[in-house]
Amino acid sequence: MRDSRPAPGATDARDPATADTGWWREAVVYQVYVRSFADSDGDGLGDVGGLRARLPHLVDLGVDALWINPWYPSPMADGGYDVADYRDVEPAFGTLADAEELLAEAHAAGLRVLLDVVPNHSSDAHPWFREALAGSAAARARFVFRPGRGPAGAEPPNDWESAFGGPAWTRTHAADGTPGDWYLHLFAPGQPDFDWTNPEVREDFVRTLRFWFDRGVDGFRIDVAHGLVKTEGLPDADLPPGADRSHPHPAWDQDGVHEIYREWRRIADSYDPPRVFVAEAWVRSSERLADYLRPDELHTAFQFDFLRAPWRADLLRSVAEEALAAAARVGAPSTWVLSNHDVPRHVTRYARPQPEAVLDLDAYREHSSGQVPDLATGLRRARAAALLMLALPGTAYVYQGEELGLEEVEDLPDALRQDPVWVQSGFTDPGRDGCRVPLPWTGEGPSLGFSPSGAGRPWLPQPPHWAGLAVDVQRDDPASVLSLYRDALRLRREHLLGRDDVAFPPAAPGVLVLRRGDVEVTVNTTAEPVALPAGRLLLASTPLGDGGLLPADAAAWTTRG
Ligand code: GLC
Repeated sequence: MRDSRPAPGATDARDPATADTGWWREAVVYQVYVRSFADSDGDGLGDVGGLRARLPHLVDLGVDALWINPWYPSPMADGGYDVADYRDVEPAFGTLADAEELLAEAHAAGLRVLLDVVPNHSSDAHPWFREALAGSAAARARFVFRPGRGPAGAEPPNDWESAFGGPAWTRTHAADGTPGDWYLHLFAPGQPDFDWTNPEVREDFVRTLRFWFDRGVDGFRIDVAHGLVKTEGLPDADLPPGADRSHPHPAWDQDGVHEIYREWRRIADSYDPPRVFVAEAWVRSSERLADYLRPDELHTAFQFDFLRAPWRADLLRSVAEEALAAAARVGAPSTWVLSNHDVPRHVTRYARPQPEAVLDLDAYREHSSGQVPDLATGLRRARAAALLMLALPGTAYVYQGEELGLEEVEDLPDALRQDPVWVQSGFTDPGRDGCRVPLPWTGEGPSLGFSPSGAGRPWLPQPPHWAGLAVDVQRDDPASVLSLYRDALRLRREHLLGRDDVAFPPAAPGVLVLRRGDVEVTVNTTAEPVALPAGRLLLASTPLGDGGLLPADAAAWTTRG
């Protein structure tokens, strides 16, 4: 069970009500994709009851907080990122009362809780959008409706594309079938974008933040935080062929968005203890990302370049150094993440030949399926990458199942795929279901303990070999991935926290060395063993070889202290 460690930067971080507000600067946050975490009622879908029952796993692992993906009422056109009511809980997941119980239980266990707020768009089942389609002018003004271009307005209002593929506009039709205006959806057609120039939208999100803050929620992850404000007039993007996400676009990362977060920060700061934010913002540089982290804006933002970095020492190092420098400029911590519910799991990413530059993740999913992954190598590298991530200064996010070493499930039957990416890409991109497969809790049973015995099948099938990766199989095995994460989190607390100093001393090609205080982290991405610095070994991702050498695709923490 959890030891009585002092929490990061906090005088009494085991009691969230009184703790120092800086806890988020060095926290490790566990991401719960609730549909796939644990099912308590046997319908094959994870739920709040399942999460409550499995909180001891998170306590045992030693994380500081959890982030829960959207659990609001939703038609699930995009796994809950299509929200029909921001201030309630999806009935398939439980009730508001269950959510309040969960908050109380998590806090009692010393875990803080972050929710996921989705401000760029709602669901087409949101009452406002229904009113808009029914013709209410006030409701239409909360979304982005525009006449089409071309003869009879049959062409979309501009050339923007949905992030999931296809046009970012859908045409509306009157009850008698007459075509009308178009509405904007940067994601699925079931996710109409809000118009953030409308004060009613701003006010409603303030209500939502307060609603959950008043119930004790410790903060929010902000979904597509870089999308809310669009360039006035909605001009064409005119992207050059082959432009990737780093190309400037009138729908993304507009300067006007920062004003919204200044208001949100004032609200978060008005609570005791202050509430916190982490932004999901896919922007073109660490510099642009740091703008979201200015002292009167958001607290943290995911550093996705780290996640996109291939298993190459030079790139891992340059991405980390650049991110640390950009965040330091605004006094913010960096936020490291290797996997989440949107990207192929890193065991699998590292199991294929590594590119020369940071990955384009959409292209990866579309084009990698022909190459058989070497999962044993991927897992070795994933274990090593965890030791790198957890040693870097700042906060780190652990996506459910990465602590078990789960890989991307790439062979799901097409008929079971639920991610809208699959359909919207014209069936060329398999989408994100492969990283959302329900967790294995026990080595036996039809759903590997995901659902209670006698229940229906999990909403996505688990690979049979995950029986060997189940929580109860790994828990007492000192060589397991789970034990590695648990050990790393404990040693991080004992040796690494509270130290801002970080240096990257020169190292041999293919080797990354990171120094923090007395601890040296050596990451060997080469195919040959390398020597470790003198000192005591704290932890290694794999047993050391002859003469105490660090084997290929491995990492170790040593200390001179
Ligand atoms: C974010 C979420 C992703 C979702 C999208 C639209 O990128 O992480 O899962 O599909 O926003 O809400």
